[in-house]
Amino acid sequence: MSTLCVKTVSRPLRGTMQVPSDKSISHRALMFAALAFGRSRLSRFSYGEDNVSTLRAMRALGVSIQDDGQGTLLVDGVGLDGLRPASELDCGNSGTTMRLFCGLLGAQSFHSRLVGDPSLSGRPMLRVAGPLRQRGALIEGRPHPKRAGDLTAPLDIGPLPAGCQLSALDYTMPISSAQVKSALLLSGLYAEGPTRVSEPVRSRDHTERMLQALGIPLERQGTSVSLQPPSNRHALKAFDVSLPGDLSAAAFPLVAAAIVTNSQVAVQGVGVNPTRTGICDILELFGAKLRVDSEGSPLGEPTGTLRIASAATLQGTVIGGETAVRAIDEIPIACALAARASGTTEFRDVGELRVKESDRIATMATVLRAFGVECEEKPDGLIVEGRPNTLLTAARVKSNGDHRIAMTAAVLGLVAKGTTVIEDADTIATSFPGFHTMLRDLGAETELLP
Ligand code: S3P
Repeated sequence: MSTLCVKTVSRPLRGTMQVPSDKSISHRALMFAALAFGRSRLSRFSYGEDNVSTLRAMRALGVSIQDDGQGTLLVDGVGLDGLRPASELDCGNSGTTMRLFCGLLGAQSFHSRLVGDPSLSGRPMLRVAGPLRQRGALIEGRPHPKRAGDLTAPLDIGPLPAGCQLSALDYTMPISSAQVKSALLLSGLYAEGPTRVSEPVRSRDHTERMLQALGIPLERQGTSVSLQPPSNRHALKAFDVSLPGDLSAAAFPLVAAAIVTNSQVAVQGVGVNPTRTGICDILELFGAKLRVDSEGSPLGEPTGTLRIASAATLQGTVIGGETAVRAIDEIPIACALAARASGTTEFRDVGELRVKESDRIATMATVLRAFGVECEEKPDGLIVEGRPNTLLTAARVKSNGDHRIAMTAAVLGLVAKGTTVIEDADTIATSFPGFHTMLRDLGAETELLP
């Protein structure tokens, strides 16, 4: 297990960079390329471990996927009905892999078993299994040890009895979730009638955009989406795409530049889908100046270059409602802004953070306190007292197996007196291989110890 050491930064952070490909878009591009007919080319694919879990699972299901040696994956799609049974599929740490595969495999006439690492094997799965069961999918799991009535991995899925198809579904999600919505839409490609999914606030809509870009008609009204199952089993056409960079990864250098005096950083080719740009709004709410220059829209996904300069002062703020949904993965790194802002910052409506890769409300509170930042945990939120005027105190923290917690601690370490030590830093490779080198290239002093 490697340890990441970060020293107080002694100069401004400067640089122009690219970040790994968007994790959410990469999972979906791999899945749709596998279900399409013919060869798709996914360039700029990055080998974050979560995406590798989806790649391996697709290979195990009989899809040929090769790397051309220059960062482009060549995916020979087998068509909607071409997946082959596999033995156990290991989803690693990836909730998106597990939940999206529940939708896809729940529609197949063979049995599948999904397993995950200890963190994933504690995450709630009834939210996806419940509505899929409503339309006839067979999904069994382990009773959740802590959440009565819920279930978790390992999951046994299918087989659908011979001659049976999933039924139509009209489902209103109690909590906005792109993973659940996407699982239902994927299963809807195999159903005998339409799929309609509604959510309280629109969650990331990559699945909808990609289906539309690939020629599957969807109707979208407010926060509802309806899909008609394609009558033609060759409906999904192979495609070529250059995957956009991940805004959730870009958030780390952007926030680092916002809190380190005199910094200037640009991140090129980043996905700026409006359902994901809550962190841009949050940076502005704190008073940081961010510029977004649009580039193109591969697969219906807007991309751009993001430029930021450090803010003279950051002002505490309130973050909640739809901004919180649009920044749900960026709340940990937004805590670094809160830690350096004057006054109090309140994060509201973020109860979902309790069921991410770790309980991110609890782990962030522990990390902030370790850096000498006062905070108060709420059942669905966090209140942070900023410490803008003096350096924070260097900390020794555990990642709790959570990549975003480890990277947030590294960014806090830049503005802390002494050397910050992050234990179990390997987890960063879940979403951001090369994170440590990126920080160095910007001018930080870091060391990765085996
Ligand atoms: C994701 C959806 C979000 C997000 C996760 C990726 C996706 O989870 O937190 O990192 O790719 O669909 P929820 O759907 O549970 O909100």
